[in-house]
Amino acid sequence: MKLLWAVTALLLSCWRADASTAPNIHTEPSEVTNQTSAVLSCNLTDTAMSSKGSHWTFNGKIIENSKKDGNTHHTTHKLEKITHANSGKYECVFLTDPEVKQTIEVRTLPHVAAYKHSEHGNENDKVVLVCVSHGYPLPTDWLWFKQNDEENQVSITNGTDKYEIKNTPNKTSLTINNLNIDSDLGHYICSGSNELGTATDKINLRVRSRLAALWPFLGIVAEVIILVTIIFIYEKRRKPDEVNDDDDSGSAPLKSNSNANHKDKNVRQRNSN
Ligand SMILES: *[C@@H]1O[C@H](CO)[C@@H](O)[C@H](O)[C@H]1NC(C)=O
Ligand SMILES: *[C@@H]1O[C@H](CO)[C@@H](O)[C@H](O)[C@H]1NC(C)=O
Ligand SMILES: *[C@@H]1O[C@H](CO)[C@@H](O)[C@H](O)[C@H]1NC(C)=O
Ligand SMILES: *[C@@H]1O[C@H](CO)[C@@H](O)[C@H](O)[C@H]1NC(C)=O
Repeated sequence: MKLLWAVTALLLSCWRADASTAPNIHTEPSEVTNQTSAVLSCNLTDTAMSSKGSHWTFNGKIIENSKKDGNTHHTTHKLEKITHANSGKYECVFLTDPEVKQTIEVRTLPHVAAYKHSEHGNENDKVVLVCVSHGYPLPTDWLWFKQNDEENQVSITNGTDKYEIKNTPNKTSLTINNLNIDSDLGHYICSGSNELGTATDKINLRVRSRLAALWPFLGIVAEVIILVTIIFIYEKRRKPDEVNDDDDSGSAPLKSNSNANHKDKNVRQRNSN
């Protein structure tokens, strides 16, 4: 037991020494929550420390225009307009030896967006509806609803034969199995919540009947049948002419030539269709 405490104490002291997120930096504010703009500021309170400069990072990447040279003890970073796109972890870094830094989190409502606002599936098939989220923090909870009419939203439960929901912090997907042409079409709502609140988006699902999926194919088949019929009738009508032509030896080659031209035309027509 004593050994465990000793090891823990040792680890803790190592962690403290390693973590340069120092008590000698004063941040103002300590975090930004649900604001439309902010000025982040850091003061290196230990005046005895000398720094070769400072900069800010956003989600681990250096913000180039925040770099400052010289022995600076104070730095600010202005966020004119805070949206999900620039929410995240900001860090002020002082280039002391070793460098010291402090984090300021900028938190916003999640931004939730349907991958596609309109989806369609075939009867008896399945369809997958997807919503993604951006911003910081990402949703901790995802929910799906089916909107039956203006007022009436029904929450969808996971793990039935009909529905399967899969979540990661930045993405949720709803699989709807065995699509029914009457009961499954309509609006589906995905809803992502973090500690600041909830954002939603809506997807319109259309379900096509099996037959509808076949229509283009049936159309082509019908077209081919009609064409073949026309050619067949045409050929049949030409037959008596040709018999006559055989009697008239002079015009026979001419006629058969024009006949070939007609066929050629038919072929071209078929191709252009
Ligand atoms: C940082 O220091 C400056 C000047 O020393 C002072 O005006 C400012 O209020 C300080 N800010 C914080 C956050 O301590
Ligand atoms: C939904 O259920 C499936 C299987 O039953 C499971 O793999 C999945 O993790 C569940 N999703 C959620 C969000 O609980
Ligand atoms: C979601 O997060 C994963 C890993 O955390 C990342 O690979 C992926 O690009 C992210 N997707 C979106 C849409 O941001
Ligand atoms: C954040 O701001 C929105 C409106 O801007 C408000 O509806 C919401 O309640 C606020 N959330 C918190 C946690 O203050």
